[in-house]
Amino acid sequence: MSGTIIDGIAIGKVIREEIKERVDLLKEKGCVPGLAVIVVGDDQASHTYVRNKQKSSVEVGMKSELIKLPATVTEAELLEHITKLNEDDSINGILVQLPLPNHIDENLVIRAIDPKKDVDGFHPENVGKMIIGQRAFLSCTPYGIIKLLERTNTEIKGKHAVIVGRSNIVGKPMGQLLLQRDATVTYCHSKTEDLASFTKQADILIVAIGRTKFITAEHVKEGAVVIDVGMNRDENGKLCGDVDFESVKGKAGAITPVPGGVGPMTITMLLKNTLHSAEQACIAKNGSEQ
Ligand code: GUN
Repeated sequence: MSGTIIDGIAIGKVIREEIKERVDLLKEKGCVPGLAVIVVGDDQASHTYVRNKQKSSVEVGMKSELIKLPATVTEAELLEHITKLNEDDSINGILVQLPLPNHIDENLVIRAIDPKKDVDGFHPENVGKMIIGQRAFLSCTPYGIIKLLERTNTEIKGKHAVIVGRSNIVGKPMGQLLLQRDATVTYCHSKTEDLASFTKQADILIVAIGRTKFITAEHVKEGAVVIDVGMNRDENGKLCGDVDFESVKGKAGAITPVPGGVGPMTITMLLKNTLHSAEQACIAKNGSEQ
């Protein structure tokens, strides 16, 4: 028996329609949500991601501003752009596409973004608030995975969630969000010994390690929900994930494909965060009676 394929494209589309309705309401109140995206250098993958983010924001009715800077831009110049956007009332969300060139300190750049406009959820203030369960912008990929689990009625409470990967953007916040929803969480990573002994215990297995088709049927418990965050190219140049989809799909209870699983949800949550920021700014501008 094959597992259910979790359709991130369809779920993302429904959420983006909900976002568009709320954007229209905001516009009626004279507030147009604005997202600014900064991309540095000419890495093709980064430019593709940024184009997709821009296109999606325009589709839901937001204003989109793209700032393209050369790889030679100085840290001071980049920080100046961020300061201007922080002060610009027409901008509700600021995103600096990572990675940045080596001469620029990523942490410094992230800290320079006003936490109220940090729609990536990377600022230490938002990360800290998230960990102690306060309202905060959530990192878009883990937030999107939570929405995928919710909208497929996947039980989280009491379940064993195993996260493979411990990045600041995905693995670490993912575990925290699942913990808040009463999962028992295990983190695995590149130094974990006997990885399969952990992954085989997972009711929910989240894989974010950036290694092509690394997780196979032997790593997975029968009926587990498998979420693949990977975005790699196989030997034929075809997009694929960190999970060997063909090997695992017959054993998993549900599985996300690559492409078409987590990816569309990440962009959708970026829009959701930008909408939230714009709603807060609009209340501040017009007063709470509206
Ligand atoms: N690079 C890869 N993923 C992301 C992301 O979610 N946000 C930003 N800003 N850069 C990225």
